[in-house]
Amino acid sequence: MKLSQRLCVIFSVLFTVFLVICFVENELKSSDLTEGENSAHGRQHFIFHRRFLNRDENSKISAEAPNHPMNVIPLPPKSSNKKNVSTTTTVSTTKEPRDEFLDLRKYTTLNPNFRQYMEWPPYFRLPKHNPTLADVLKVRIRPNMTNWEKFHLQISKYYLFPENSKVVEDLMHDMATQKIIGVEQLPGGTQLKLILTMEDGAKALFKPMRFPREVETLPNHFYFTDFERHVSEIASFHLDKLLGLRRTPPCVGRKVNISEELYPLVEPDLHKTFFISPAGNVCFHGQCTYYCDTSHAICGDPHMLEGSLSIWLPPRNVLERKPIRSPWRRSYNKRRKAAWETDSFYCVNQVKTVAPYDHGRRLYDLMDLHIMDYLTGNMDRHHYDEVQNFGNDSALIHLDNGRGFGKHSHDEFTIILPLLQCCVIRLSTFNRLYSFHVGPKRLSDLMRESMANDPVAPVLIEPHLKALDRRVANVLECISSCVKVNEPAGVLLDDVLDFPFFRNMTIKIVPD
Ligand SMILES: *[C@@H]1O[C@H](CO)[C@@H](O)[C@H](O)[C@H]1NC(C)=O
Ligand SMILES: *[C@@H]1O[C@H](CO)[C@@H](O)[C@H](O)[C@H]1NC(C)=O
Ligand SMILES: *[C@@H]1O[C@H](CO)[C@@H](O)[C@H](O)[C@H]1NC(C)=O
Ligand SMILES: *[C@@H]1O[C@H](CO)[C@@H](O)[C@H](O)[C@H]1NC(C)=O
Ligand SMILES: *[C@@H]1O[C@H](CO)[C@@H](O)[C@H](O)[C@H]1NC(C)=O
Repeated sequence: MKLSQRLCVIFSVLFTVFLVICFVENELKSSDLTEGENSAHGRQHFIFHRRFLNRDENSKISAEAPNHPMNVIPLPPKSSNKKNVSTTTTVSTTKEPRDEFLDLRKYTTLNPNFRQYMEWPPYFRLPKHNPTLADVLKVRIRPNMTNWEKFHLQISKYYLFPENSKVVEDLMHDMATQKIIGVEQLPGGTQLKLILTMEDGAKALFKPMRFPREVETLPNHFYFTDFERHVSEIASFHLDKLLGLRRTPPCVGRKVNISEELYPLVEPDLHKTFFISPAGNVCFHGQCTYYCDTSHAICGDPHMLEGSLSIWLPPRNVLERKPIRSPWRRSYNKRRKAAWETDSFYCVNQVKTVAPYDHGRRLYDLMDLHIMDYLTGNMDRHHYDEVQNFGNDSALIHLDNGRGFGKHSHDEFTIILPLLQCCVIRLSTFNRLYSFHVGPKRLSDLMRESMANDPVAPVLIEPHLKALDRRVANVLECISSCVKVNEPAGVLLDDVLDFPFFRNMTIKIVPD
């Protein structure tokens, strides 16, 4: 061979090797992205969808399914494995004209024949009997009781309070206006919280404002180091009520004068953390695990401090309850992910098969809770509270909602993963979400109205309210993909028993 020929061969071999190396490196990079700390959640979504929707071909599909217009988030083209990852981080349909989810309409009570799509009798039904704490304790609610005593005693098995409750309305007024007669720090918290006692003896949890409403979660903070936001507590209460859940204790905003209403009442431990800042504002920091030092002090303007007040529930020996570790708890570790974040069959294999998620209302309650958390953007739901006074199958209590509404332009897809993994939801919850979406009043309007009379209104800035509407559409998108690959009757639990159309129907009640 001539020298030039040899050189030519050597060069082409080297070039091929170079190409192979480039390709391998690229592949490694893209697989790193799926597992790495900051992987785009959107990608997980698509991976999930791909696996999940693959079942389409061989799983049972309802007769209508093929006629559904495609609302599912389109699967990314194969090449997007390597590029354009960033474009898939948010699941959003806001830019396009609003999708009315016409494929879902027939399952809502807007369709008088919705029940033909449901399983009847449904998978489970709760007994109508909804005992209150007064029933369990065998005491009578008397008219001369304080509002907080009435509130405590009317807590029932399925709700913390009934719809349009006058007691709750009066109680919120009390919390916002009554004289404060006691101030304690909540012991053991990670961030400073105060327990305030009102003149009628009511206790309430006070979470102070730390930042103006426009400030978003710091991009380098994990969900577990994020500051709590008092407006998130207030807004979550209203949202929970609008969703028909009524499982969050009433919460109201209040402005307190630190010098006049708190300082004279605090214990020595807290007393010594008060100071006047260089700007002349009255500040304090208390004692706790995170952010209780001079550089993270809570300051008035110069005396007045805004905060949220959540009514304190009866003590644990009266309203017996215990915190249960959520199956979808996050890892709370800077570097690890929880099993559910990477396993699309987590719900099917590891949740639906074990008590108490294998029967009754619990799984559905968790779906409601995750939908609420997705709407607020709260990633910090490690535990939920189970009430035990009323026997099995009580509703949950949604405490600690301070870490929602941190970022209005980001929808945290992993919060709604449980819904996509389990593909079950109460018809009543779905129905509400659908009605929020199609109007006449959207969720943002209802929230704005509901919070208009709060003493610290406007509670949320507009971008956070608008984000709620966008996230409602995203949840409907999840439900839409669920009913495409599963029988609608297996996805939607028909719990809309009082729908007038069916009031006269003889309903056969099956025991759980
Ligand atoms: C990637 O993004 C570029 C520019 O945003 C676009 O032109 C291209 O079509 C995208 N490719 C894919 C595969 O989506
Ligand atoms: C409320 O009324 C009952 C009798 O109806 C009375 O025994 C009780 O002392 C009253 N309680 C208060 C706090 O006034
Ligand atoms: C708060 O209390 C201080 C001290 O009593 C008082 O000087 C101030 O006027 C009060 N501020 C308001 C807004 O009530
Ligand atoms: C309540 O649930 C527990 C645990 O799941 C079960 O052992 C018990 O039998 C149930 N009680 C009733 C009354 O159903
Ligand atoms: C239920 O039955 C009653 C009497 O049979 C009738 O007057 C009423 O209109 C029915 N309600 C509905 C919603 O069909």
